[in-house]
Amino acid sequence: MLGAGARPQLIQRKAGLRPTPEDRRVPACPEVPPPVEENVARIVYASQSLIADSVYAQMERIRSSALRHNQPLGVSTALLHQSGWFLQWKEGPGEVLRALMERVARDARHHALRIVHASRGPRLLDGPWSMAIVQCDDAPEAFAQRVALLRRRHEDGCQDEPPAVWRQLSTPLGHPGAERQADPSAFTRVLVCAAQGAGSFELVRWLARRHGQPLVHRRLAGACDLDVATDYVDFPAGERLARVIAMARRGLGVPLARAFLPDYARVLLLLSGEADADLRLVRRVAAACAGRPQAPALLGVGACADIHAPLAQVAHGFGLAYRGVLADSAEPSAAWNAAAPFIH
Ligand SMILES: Cc1cc2nc3c(=O)[nH]c(=O)nc-3n(C[C@H](O)[C@H](O)[C@H](O)COP(=O)(O)O)c2cc1C
Repeated sequence: MLGAGARPQLIQRKAGLRPTPEDRRVPACPEVPPPVEENVARIVYASQSLIADSVYAQMERIRSSALRHNQPLGVSTALLHQSGWFLQWKEGPGEVLRALMERVARDARHHALRIVHASRGPRLLDGPWSMAIVQCDDAPEAFAQRVALLRRRHEDGCQDEPPAVWRQLSTPLGHPGAERQADPSAFTRVLVCAAQGAGSFELVRWLARRHGQPLVHRRLAGACDLDVATDYVDFPAGERLARVIAMARRGLGVPLARAFLPDYARVLLLLSGEADADLRLVRRVAAACAGRPQAPALLGVGACADIHAPLAQVAHGFGLAYRGVLADSAEPSAAWNAAAPFIH
């Protein structure tokens, strides 16, 4: 359980405040072992929140209950609060999940639970708890429509994997061009991490300005005192649409963020030129990808040709593809223009 002095920033921060990309005031979460291959029951449900205020404080209470009850039973879970809705993804032994769902369904803090995914498959959440808050103008009715659509598909026996269900409900494609696409999931997703500083957030802000598209702010936290920002922007990129997601380095410590790694075409690494920091970043991404069914290729952006060979060697040692691109990673336009041909 968390002591009062260890309350995460997520709980203390009020909605609408600008997130800080990296918050060094809280201790880092210990390394989590790579996911073990096992088939478990996986459920995703949406429910309408009845919490009138203090959403963060309630999420904190649910977290401490869940860590106490779920962890000994082998249940991992991710909980989102967005636009007056809860979205929860649970994984674990089937009987245990059923009993837990019965208890949670009786909780007066929400109502009208709708299952949108139920399957058996590999465990994708490799830690007991993740929580997320999305700050956006998404109306509760818009969220409700997406839930109804996925619910109908689920009842028709047609369902995507849990990360795709989560993405369609929480972060659907915002760009109007999305409606022109036959398959709304068919768009390129790229994660950006900087070896030092907040260059990934600057790059995403620059892309949003360049394409005149809104920036979406999210915050993520795990079981420990992690509280990190992750912003994204959607924009047209040739025939397809692109989503570029800035992730704070410590965000890779949150199980929900790690579960989405196979979802990305590339991880763009904004290198600093400092060998230790750059190596740490490659190792951090590689550790987060370990044991995943598929891993994104790494695209390292750095101004000096010499820095790429040792990073490529480390990446290959972890079974990851690596391509080095020569550009000033501190300059968003230079970094993006150099990397883009290898992304689309
Ligand atoms: C949306 C939502 C999700 C919840 N998820 C869990 C959960 O995963 N595990 C859990 O033990 N309690 C969860 N709870 C809380 C339970 O409903 C219940 O309040 C709690 O387990 C009671 O245990 P306690 O009295 O020991 O804290 C959730 C509540 C809500 C509103």
